[in-house]
Amino acid sequence: MTSTPRPIILTGDRTTGPLHLGHYAGSLRARVALQHEARQFLLLADTQAMTDNVGRHQKVTGNVLEVALDYLAVGIDPALSTIVVQSQVPELAELFQYLLNLVTVARLERNPTIKEEMRLRGFERDIPAGFLTYPVSQAADITAFKATHVPVGDDQLPMIEQTNELVRRFNHTVGQPVLVECEAVLSQVARLPGVDGRAKMSKSLGNAITLGATPDEITRAVNAMYTDPNHLRVNDPGQVEGNVVFAFLDAFEPDTAKVAELKAHYRRGGLGDTALKRMLDERLQALIAPIRERRAEFARDRAEVLGILRRGTMRAREAAAQTLSEVKGALGLRYFEG
Ligand code: TRP
Repeated sequence: MTSTPRPIILTGDRTTGPLHLGHYAGSLRARVALQHEARQFLLLADTQAMTDNVGRHQKVTGNVLEVALDYLAVGIDPALSTIVVQSQVPELAELFQYLLNLVTVARLERNPTIKEEMRLRGFERDIPAGFLTYPVSQAADITAFKATHVPVGDDQLPMIEQTNELVRRFNHTVGQPVLVECEAVLSQVARLPGVDGRAKMSKSLGNAITLGATPDEITRAVNAMYTDPNHLRVNDPGQVEGNVVFAFLDAFEPDTAKVAELKAHYRRGGLGDTALKRMLDERLQALIAPIRERRAEFARDRAEVLGILRRGTMRAREAAAQTLSEVKGALGLRYFEG
């Protein structure tokens, strides 16, 4: 990412619960590093969260501040990054409406991310129109800020593809390069499994470690981690693949030579789960302690956090309004000027 001009990054999280170590490994720590080299917008995607939480809107609104606290706790600096509350930027909804005309229902139904999410939620034919069309809403988020780079997990790649289709379609329709295509930036880190060994860490599956976890919660989670069920005695050879403790060490132990040595020792036999888990527990305690402390500090100063969100959202509105004005101008939707 060395291209000039300065990249514009857009990332977002649905606000359905506090973030966890999976988010930290997959995207949060990368965002903390990127804020120095790019103009970064972090979207608290409450509007998007509404699309699959009908009737649970309080869960969505109640978690906006929680996710903001997570951002601030891990080191997102509001002087460098812009934190934006999606629902408070009406320009995004307006742009969404114009983009909706440039995609067919059939194309939306083919979006692999939507297909998978529909399956997970059992929506089938009862899919809310807002959910079916959320990729277009996401395209509005991305293009409103003229984002050049969007860090995503591989499950979100179809979103970027669909966004760029819409960009090309729009620019072709108006005969001007108004909107900007973006590039997906894939996470370098493998997806963090849940504590229980399931493929994905998720708060709703109950297999997550949150960023505000207490020392006790961390220890309990580590002790409950799925390892190798056939590794019964310390001297038995153990399996590293599918072993959650090693997945976590890969993600969070910076001393890679040490991890390689531990893996060799475990495979050969002689390294017990208890000793191994004690090492991971130490590592996670050291990682989370400062995050938990900063989180608690910000949580005590709610007015300060709301001020950060309000200022970020205002700045974001200006950027989005500029793009929207270009979009409406290109469509001839300007009647009262000049
Ligand atoms: N879809 C993302 C999620 O599931 C959230 C999101 C909303 C987003 N708008 C975005 C991500 C724009 C990247 C770019 O959490």
